Amino acid sequence: MGALLMSIIRVEGATKEYYLGKTVVPALRGVDLQVEKGEFLAIAGPSGSGKTTLLNLIGCIEKPSAGKVSIDGVDTAHLTSDELADLRATKIGFIFQNFNLLPVLTALENVEYPLSIRKIPAREKRRKARQLLEAVGLSRFLHHKPLELSGGQRQRVAIARAMVADPAMILADEPTANLDHTTGQEILNLMKQMNAERKTTFLFSTHDPKVMAIAQRVVPLSDGIVADPQR
Ligand SMILES: Nc1ncnc2c1ncn2[C@@H]1O[C@H](COP(=O)(O)OP(=O)(O)OP(=O)(O)O)[C@@H](O)[C@H]1O
Ligand SMILES: [Mg+2]
Repeated sequence: MGALLMSIIRVEGATKEYYLGKTVVPALRGVDLQVEKGEFLAIAGPSGSGKTTLLNLIGCIEKPSAGKVSIDGVDTAHLTSDELADLRATKIGFIFQNFNLLPVLTALENVEYPLSIRKIPAREKRRKARQLLEAVGLSRFLHHKPLELSGGQRQRVAIARAMVADPAMILADEPTANLDHTTGQEILNLMKQMNAERKTTFLFSTHDPKVMAIAQRVVPLSDGIVADPQR
């Protein structure tokens, strides 16, 4: 198959086991998932079904116990930790459920942060960060620190930070879980717009009906496996 048809994400038979003392916790029990460039999809499942674990494997934050995770045609098992860091920095934007903003930095500095290892002029980094914050409607809050922002505003900073390096994909772990209905809907519309304009691939984990309604495809996860959608 040619490069044009290469899936951006390909997970094959991925399992993940955690060890709690002598107890084995099977968080994922053989997941197959293929995501094409530009998709806007949700992984839906109850608490404990393995959503965060799957996102962490795809985001190269954790490695599978068995099975394979390929990003843009590259099997991540063969990469060194430097190569993995580079892959994360250039191809993947991560929006964590609790935002993970750095509390001592302003909104602008938080968004600039993923560019810090890039060899581009400081002025250019600042310009990009400002542009993204404007795109998420925060031009009046550039110099606010996370504690000086509302939950929805923090979520917007996290989205801007995930987008600033122009990644091929954004992984968002329950992006609306901490937001009220209206703010959640606004944030989703914003991501949908970025998906349409920049062709960025979006992968959400969720149990929010709003997210499932806006997603192009919903992959049901149950007890560490992709449940049969036909059932
Ligand atoms: N670091 C860990 N150590 C041990 N067990 C873990 C660890 N992380 C996750 N688990 C276990 O793996 C299973 C899947 O967890 P995961 O966090 O992926 O679920 P989730 O679908 O994201 O749930 P939630 O909706 O509550 O966020 C759970 O049984 C959880 O207790
Ligand atoms: Mg989770």
